[in-house]
Amino acid sequence: MFIKVPKGTQDILPEDISKWYYVEGVIKEILNKYGYKEIRTPFFEYTDLFVRGIGESTDIVTKEMFTFPDRKGRSLTLRPEGTAPVVRAYLENSMERISKAIKLFYLGPMFRCEKPQAGRFRQFNQFGIEVIGTKSSAADAEVILTVLDVYKKLGLKSLEILINSVGCKKCRVDYIQKLKKYLKDKKGFLCSECKERYDKNPLRVLDCKKDSCKKNIEQAPLIIENLCQECESHFSEVKSYLDNQKIVFHEDPRLVRGLDYYTKTAFEIISGGLGAQNAIGGGGRYDDLVEELGGKPTPAVGFAAGIERMIIAIDQQKVEWPVEKRLDIFVAKVNEKNKDTAFRLLQKIRNTGLSADMDYSGGSLKSQMRIANKIRARYTIIVGEEELSKNMVILRNMQTKEQKEVQIDNLIDELSSCIDSM
Ligand code: HAM
Repeated sequence: MFIKVPKGTQDILPEDISKWYYVEGVIKEILNKYGYKEIRTPFFEYTDLFVRGIGESTDIVTKEMFTFPDRKGRSLTLRPEGTAPVVRAYLENSMERISKAIKLFYLGPMFRCEKPQAGRFRQFNQFGIEVIGTKSSAADAEVILTVLDVYKKLGLKSLEILINSVGCKKCRVDYIQKLKKYLKDKKGFLCSECKERYDKNPLRVLDCKKDSCKKNIEQAPLIIENLCQECESHFSEVKSYLDNQKIVFHEDPRLVRGLDYYTKTAFEIISGGLGAQNAIGGGGRYDDLVEELGGKPTPAVGFAAGIERMIIAIDQQKVEWPVEKRLDIFVAKVNEKNKDTAFRLLQKIRNTGLSADMDYSGGSLKSQMRIANKIRARYTIIVGEEELSKNMVILRNMQTKEQKEVQIDNLIDELSSCIDSM
């Protein structure tokens, strides 16, 4: 009996890894262009960070965290998202001293114990960006432009940008009262989860996907119509920055994201064809989180996207992946007696910076050539006694099948010119 991979997790196999390298490379290239610096935080944190950061009554905290005690009984949690850890690191390392507004990015696995389905995993990878220390609406717009640039470079099309404002501490209090008043006599018709949300987190009722709830919130007051002056002008500034850049977006007045830290701008990017799990990324402003985690009031805005969903979308949209880099040189030996010379040559070739490999299983020349073909080597060097007696080896172009004898002393120069001319 084989032990299987845990539910909701997956191996990324060698045949798929080039897709990951490519996507990660594009992400780093674009984020570098926008001035982001990478931060790597631990895969687990003290549980309290997420409870305080994401919000006690959110689905993530109540149902989805992988939480366990360490040997001394302290509660740890595998990170379900990257924003709270980045803010923790920002505070712990006094990053406000580096610059007034800091731009950070991260790339790596997150863990949520959700019901697995297409595009939804228990271990998934995110790339995320966080701009900490500015309240400017230009930063919100720039975050959206940054991620759109990543998607564009990857060739992703049919993306829909949904945007909303969820207000701030000031305007939300009044709005929640209005919302609760509206929902009061409809409570009996809401799903069991929304009945709980009514008391703990009424904003989330707006986001419920169940038909009965959707129907009952149709006429609910909208937060967008209840924003304070500051939130309203911030939102119109963000929209006008996007308009100026000719970015098409849709206002979704019912968009409230699943994490409690959002203030003002909230947005999501949806990709057609991804099915139920169509959010390829989401983010927003979180002006109170730094303070809630023990720092001085510090405005911030950010975004994160699921890399698995990006790869699924690229495949679905039939965007061509770049051609995988091939092995430059395969070294084959006519018989085992030539093994040491072949091994020496192999290492010499690698030392020049070319990629090279050989087979150690002791198979015939024919089987070695089969391997060279299978791994799509560009050239094969055949080390045989007859040629070695003349201090030569055979160099075979695997595409044209042409081959010639080359002096071992000239081999590296010969290989470099062959590879350069390809
Ligand atoms: P989030 O919406 O929870 O936001 O996650 C961001 C993205 O991660 C989603 O849009 C989706 O693409 C991907 N994702 C989430 N859960 C899963 C899953 N179970 N399987 C596969 N992909 C998933 C955040 O995490 C916030 N920290 C974003 C943020 C950064 N807000 C401000 N700064």
